Amino acid sequence: MPGPLVLGRNITKAYRAGSREVEILHGVSMAVEPGEMCAVMGPSGSGKSTLLYTLAGLELPSTGTVQLLGRDTTALSRAALARLRRCEVGFVFQAYNLVPTLTAFENVALPARLRGEKPPTETIRHALALVGLEGFEETRPVVMSGGEQQRVALARVIAQRPRIVFADEPTGALDTHSGAVVLDALRQIAHRPDQCVLTVTHDPVVAAQCDRVLFLHDGYLARELTSPSAAEVAALLTDLAVTGTGASS
Ligand SMILES: Nc1ncnc2c1ncn2[C@@H]1O[C@H](COP(=O)(O)OP(=O)(O)OP(=O)(O)O)[C@@H](O)[C@H]1O
Ligand SMILES: [Mg+2]
Repeated sequence: MPGPLVLGRNITKAYRAGSREVEILHGVSMAVEPGEMCAVMGPSGSGKSTLLYTLAGLELPSTGTVQLLGRDTTALSRAALARLRRCEVGFVFQAYNLVPTLTAFENVALPARLRGEKPPTETIRHALALVGLEGFEETRPVVMSGGEQQRVALARVIAQRPRIVFADEPTGALDTHSGAVVLDALRQIAHRPDQCVLTVTHDPVVAAQCDRVLFLHDGYLARELTSPSAAEVAALLTDLAVTGTGASS
């Protein structure tokens, strides 16, 4: 299917705080194309996670539209949206969606189970081994570190092979080696022709390994860089922090 896998048009997102509405995203438009790995960067509180949740169909935009695989998330029924997420979308969020009563193996097998399939044991074991969790098959997430839990979520995405992967700081809680493993796995997913990855990161080295880097500032898309170096990313982040626009770079 031609066209972007993820498309946001003029997304605003507001939350109710007491009697007031607070707008977090102020009209963000962006797309992620097949075969692309994109990063979202920006200061804490700039709306990165909110944008990711909205683009992933976990939240609906207040105004504007989001299309996943060409389908408008606001036009789908709750059930249809849940089905679309279950079949086509993978999540690597640290605190998101691991089932505490299931083992690591069962968590990785869950998306296939929810579709009524029985995934081959080898596929699950292989995915866990790829993220360095060989021997953790029978371990439950509650006794795992944050980084280990995040790697279970990644193994689930590797076993599931969804078309679209959303990751929120996937390397944030990891040591250098585990971070490199995770990043490599995400890059391999993204660079299949009909798949893509959108990841939030604070790390210029991670961003520099993406095809495109989007910079959010106070809920606005401030800048975009294509195939930047880590130094260029760091320079623009500093600039944005100082000027708020990155205009001097
Ligand atoms: N469910 C919610 N209800 C009310 N306000 C929210 C909600 N979720 C996020 N916010 C607010 O929206 C703003 C942006 O939050 P968000 O989590 O998107 O930031 P972020 O860029 O991901 O930050 P960080 O880098 O710290 O993770 C924050 O001020 C936050 O308090
Ligand atoms: Mg966040």
